[in-house]
Amino acid sequence: MTTSPDSPAAAGGQKRDAQQIRAAMRELAALIRRANLAYHQKDAPEISDAEYDAAKRRLLALEERHPDLKLPDSPTRDIGAPPREGFAKVTHEVPMLSLGNAFADDEVHEFDERIRKFLGLGDKVVTYTAEPKIDGLSLSVRYENGRMRVAATRGDGVTGEDVTANARTICDLPQTLDGAPDLLEVRGEVYMSHPDFEALNRVQAEAGAAPFANPRNAAAGSLRQLDPEITRARPLRFFAYAWGALSAPLADTQMGAINRLAALGFQTNPLTRLCRGTQELLAHYRHIEARRAELDYDIDGVVYKVDDLDLQRRLGFRSTTPRWAIAHKFPAETVWTRLEKIDIQVGRTGALSPVARLKPVTVGGVVVSNATLHNEDYIRGFDSRGNVIRDGKDIREGDWVKVYRAGDVIPKVADVDLSRRPPDARPFDFPTRCPECGSDAIREEGDAVRRCTGGMACPAQAMERLKHFVSRGAFDIEGLGARQVEMFYNDADLPIREPADIFTLRARDARNLTRLKNRDGWGEKSAENLFRAIEERRRIPLYRMIYALGIRHVGEAASKLLASHYGSWEAFETAMTRAQPGEGAEWEELINIDGVGAVMARSLIAAFHQENERRLIDRLVDQIEVLDAKQPPAADSPIAGKTLVFTGTLERMTRAEAKARAEALGARVAGSVSARTDLVIAGPGAGSKARKAAELGVEVIDEDAWLALAEGA
Ligand code: IVH
Repeated sequence: MTTSPDSPAAAGGQKRDAQQIRAAMRELAALIRRANLAYHQKDAPEISDAEYDAAKRRLLALEERHPDLKLPDSPTRDIGAPPREGFAKVTHEVPMLSLGNAFADDEVHEFDERIRKFLGLGDKVVTYTAEPKIDGLSLSVRYENGRMRVAATRGDGVTGEDVTANARTICDLPQTLDGAPDLLEVRGEVYMSHPDFEALNRVQAEAGAAPFANPRNAAAGSLRQLDPEITRARPLRFFAYAWGALSAPLADTQMGAINRLAALGFQTNPLTRLCRGTQELLAHYRHIEARRAELDYDIDGVVYKVDDLDLQRRLGFRSTTPRWAIAHKFPAETVWTRLEKIDIQVGRTGALSPVARLKPVTVGGVVVSNATLHNEDYIRGFDSRGNVIRDGKDIREGDWVKVYRAGDVIPKVADVDLSRRPPDARPFDFPTRCPECGSDAIREEGDAVRRCTGGMACPAQAMERLKHFVSRGAFDIEGLGARQVEMFYNDADLPIREPADIFTLRARDARNLTRLKNRDGWGEKSAENLFRAIEERRRIPLYRMIYALGIRHVGEAASKLLASHYGSWEAFETAMTRAQPGEGAEWEELINIDGVGAVMARSLIAAFHQENERRLIDRLVDQIEVLDAKQPPAADSPIAGKTLVFTGTLERMTRAEAKARAEALGARVAGSVSARTDLVIAGPGAGSKARKAAELGVEVIDEDAWLALAEGA
């Protein structure tokens, strides 16, 4: 039968078509949303990037052809929109830190020994608190004159998100306090109980929404709701375990402070105990571990904290973790599954990383479909030092493998079951050419990793470097995340191929016929938001700039050390340009920075001396303004900004404590005396360093004078 376009039969056909198109759109939208969720919940993604992109392209194409059928909540509307729009930023008066981890009893003994050594306590027994480590997300709640004022998430530890309206819906958090210090920042963990989590997922299922993978994700998703009424409908709970800014101390001890918080009306964990020494710590660990299954909330370990707050103060902090606390984690859950394929990913530094594609399996409440295989030696059955692991068993495609997740990190493969190996399984042939650009992939002497030699000419490396460049600790540009970087990298009209291109984006867009705002997935507002976010980052702190360069071995902590040492981009750049590996004054200065070793120093120098790399940095610097490093925190201390050298025996505090104290007061501590040294602290037995100081005319003081400086400051 033939029909004319305007006959009733044709109208019926069009309606059916429309229904089919709508159904296809819904299916694609659901797939994209599920993938977004898996991606943003930091789980290993459930589908590959290629599958994701294909789904997105198909949905966009359908929407382009049938704009009238576009779903009102289509996920294509989200693309390019700033992800974190809506929450104001809060700078924490006292940074919110994380904890170092211990996995075995030995590491707990080492933690205790480190503390006794740092404090010079000899064999004296240290008293600790031990309490469950709640698997939720941390929150800082600020009370002023007994009233809740601001609640903020941890964020990057320095700046978090203002979630006050949502925190007010948490019934464990008192709105007002009676008898509290005028200023009190209570810190603790927001979590969701198992029964509440199950009830929430039932509601999600009824509403056709994706379920939450685990209570922690549910708690995080609920606390970070833009609509506090949604948060109110999702019962969140809170355990107080720490504090930030205070107008008056809560107590002399950790336990005393926790009891005080309990008396003020906060929930504190009933499994918190005082333990004398490591034997008691480990006994309480086993007790909590044995009770874990009965608890109606998730915990993932036990946290130990030095009880005496004066000792906590003396121990102080490393860059992001306190010296006086540690998290003793429970062993990770392991599960067997089939390894379907081994893929090779090329990272930011060119590393070829083997990834196991697994038959999806639930581990610790999260669906895992990818796991890292580290490097080619690991696949062959050797660790990075060449020792045999897994009794020398290699890993092959088709094998049954034991998978585990430790904390938030990428899942790992622990073992392989040879009895289930398919007869046709072949040893894995690790590529010697980059699968992305075809360049040679080589292993340098002593390096466990094979690397692509293509540099920025390798699209995978270039893309990963850009992703790193815009990541949170680096330029952190809102609305320019990994997905947008991928989109722009491949964009023929408005490409971003290197960092400098980000800052010319707006000008180039203005010259284009098809403006960004007129493209699919973008609008006037999202394009404008992106340009504004980029403009905001045109002025960037020095440490972010150094970290953003993505130089091998130079992480966030090292970038901060380098920034505070050199102070300005000009000084840093000049020093790196002049430095020669292994010799000369610039080299000495660089490796004398505490926390900078020879490997990092060589890597830094190489980056500034490699021609292409250098041009890339210069092009970026032309576009931006790098701000000088902030003055050291205690600028009013007499040693702030000075370079100190300790030598000889200190009798009243250990060398480690003296160094930590000096750094907390804004001084730098160097290992050797040079013309740049401001002050030498010489204890008994000081030898060549004190002599050199005298020769150079550097001031030398004894331990008493040092103590007067350190205490009086
Ligand atoms: S104390 C300065 N105690 O674990 C130390 N943290 O891995 C502040 N956490 O960011 C943390 N339970 O979110 C502490 N009983 C507990 C904890 C706990 C869970 C979380 C917290 C922290 C993370 C570090």
